[in-house]
Amino acid sequence: MKRRTKTGRSSTIFALVAAGSLVLAACGNGDSGGSSDDGGGTAGGGEEDASEVQVMTWWAQGSEKAGLEALVEVFNEQHPDTEFVNAALAGGGGSQAKQKLQADLQAENPPDTFQAHAGAELQDYIDAGQIEDVSNLYDEFGLTDVFPETLMEQLTVDDKIYSIPSNVHRSNVTWVNPAVLEEVGIDPSSPPADLDAWMADMEKVADAGKIPVSLGMDWTQTHLLENILLSELGPEAYNGLWDGSTDWGGSEVNSALTKFGQIVEWSNTDRDGLDWEPALQQVMEGNAAYNVMGDWAVAAYDAQDMTGGEDYLYWPVPGTDGIFNYLADSFTLPVGAPHPGGTKAWLDTISSAEGQLAFNTVKGSIPARTDIDAAEFPEYQQSAMEDFSSDTIVGSLAHGAAAPVAVSTAVNQAIVKFSQGASDVDTLQQELVAATDSLGQ
Ligand code: GAL
Repeated sequence: MKRRTKTGRSSTIFALVAAGSLVLAACGNGDSGGSSDDGGGTAGGGEEDASEVQVMTWWAQGSEKAGLEALVEVFNEQHPDTEFVNAALAGGGGSQAKQKLQADLQAENPPDTFQAHAGAELQDYIDAGQIEDVSNLYDEFGLTDVFPETLMEQLTVDDKIYSIPSNVHRSNVTWVNPAVLEEVGIDPSSPPADLDAWMADMEKVADAGKIPVSLGMDWTQTHLLENILLSELGPEAYNGLWDGSTDWGGSEVNSALTKFGQIVEWSNTDRDGLDWEPALQQVMEGNAAYNVMGDWAVAAYDAQDMTGGEDYLYWPVPGTDGIFNYLADSFTLPVGAPHPGGTKAWLDTISSAEGQLAFNTVKGSIPARTDIDAAEFPEYQQSAMEDFSSDTIVGSLAHGAAAPVAVSTAVNQAIVKFSQGASDVDTLQQELVAATDSLGQ
């Protein structure tokens, strides 16, 4: 990440490629694409019904809605005969949408396509027989060579591919209010080297009566926790948390949780009722100094005409330089989708170069495709694209890459108890051991 600092200085972070981590092999160079227009046009029921496509996401409000709208604009141009039906349900991180989706899938009443995450989260739907193999569409749309190899590995199960990615987001980003730091005597131009140095700065912010790190509801706390674990354990041991080789009950995790506990204690007391955007707003308004959130935050800053390097700064979470904690939104063809032709049209647009350019420019993410020129994107995305091609890649817990939904849900529950003062660090740790018990078996 080219860290945006107050002085506008940027420092490139070189790759640390640790054994056992996912290493990106950027490949591709294929046809920069566009649409094959054969997904649309068949109307009026039947197996390939393309009269409409009902799309389930949680991009329902604010800057996320704007991203979806940019994508829909391209869709309407590429597939004018297929009606886009918006089934978005508000709630960052899918906090509402995932529950509704679960109920709809169980009732065999699926949407035509839904937003999921590449990696472990997809496994749930595959195991339950709820989504179709769409490998043939990779051939048909010419996608086999345009996605990075490691992303393809995350998407492939037993030689089959069950979804198509629209974008890649980064989880381990700190969003910073430089004016707050200056006010309390911290030099905003040099990010702290590690978590301890960062917490020393946080203490200065707290002593000055401001909130060091603003937080929101359950999943935003899990989001912070995963990045504290990454910072403290390093990428190899962090990866081990998901395959059973790192002990959740060990002293390293305990020490990370103790630090997490201190940061939660310093944070805003209304956290459990806030979604990510109002939590970030506290940093934007100067009530808080820092927020740890995925890079969809850049879209929220854009929406308020705030400028990176001036109104706000961004750094990798201290201690995670050279590591890209990734997640990728990926769309599916559910078993029994009412308009499979419409789904095919949607998957065509979201995977096309034109669709990925329009969407990711607005969403703050980078294209999953490797064949779109970085120069086409705003500054933040350019630095993220560079990092994604050279950093050590690890997967996000809060956003489905590292562990199944059942695990992140159980972690969220344990964290909320902790946030509400109903458990201490040791109890939290025991509950996390139980929540992750199924991993690596
Ligand atoms: C993630 C999703 C992102 C963004 C974020 C906040 O799970 O992958 O695209 O929507 O939630 O809502």
